[in-house]
Amino acid sequence: AAIKEVEFETRAVSMKTLPSGKAALPEVVFVGRSNVGKSSLVNMLVNRKTLAPTSAVPGFTQHFNYYAVNKGRRKSPSFFLVDVPGLGYARADDGRMDSWKSTLQRYLGVRENLRVVFHLIDGRTGLQKADEQLISLMMNENEGRSSYVVVVTKCDKVNDKKLKGVTEKVRQTLDKNGFPKTTPVIPTSAKSRQGRVELLGYLRLVFDV
Ligand code: GTP
Ligand code: MG
Repeated sequence: AAIKEVEFETRAVSMKTLPSGKAALPEVVFVGRSNVGKSSLVNMLVNRKTLAPTSAVPGFTQHFNYYAVNKGRRKSPSFFLVDVPGLGYARADDGRMDSWKSTLQRYLGVRENLRVVFHLIDGRTGLQKADEQLISLMMNENEGRSSYVVVVTKCDKVNDKKLKGVTEKVRQTLDKNGFPKTTPVIPTSAKSRQGRVELLGYLRLVFDV
């Protein structure tokens, strides 16, 4: 694919400070539960081991982190990959989770330059409550303005039978929420790099890179 170069662009703590005006490029966001492998997938896609910081401890990514692809290149379209906090990380005391969930809801609903949403689901645990909520947010808030791709992660840890079960449950839930049968559900692994070609192919379709 035509990811020629990628660099850290900016970090934002809230919707108010996201790139805007001339600084805004089309963007691709990685959403899902904490620890599902969002930051790892960003690194896998762009072939950079430590671009997006990762951790075995859930709740690690705390901001909107923007990575610019092909910035300023004339021949390759440029866009942002956006790594964000995960859902479902219960912090004992504060209301952080609720506030992140409503921020994400708003982001999916109003962010005009949001072109692609990768929704990551952990292949080991399968669909959880937070995932069902995300699917319904995509239907009700985003209303099809962004391309939507479900990504099953950590498939190096999952056997075929388990993966089949997880995928079927995802399909049923997509159906129930009114998504077309063509909605992609793609098995991946940041470790073995399974699914990389498919996801890049998808970006190529959307961005014509
Ligand atoms: P938060 O920022 O906390 O929301 O997490 P995240 O979704 O960004 O997850 P992150 O990429 O930090 O990965 C969480 C843990 O899962 C790390 O220990 C990763 O090494 C591990 N991990 C991520 N992807 C894979 C994968 O494909 N296979 C395996 N085996 N482990 C993975
Ligand atoms: Mg992260």
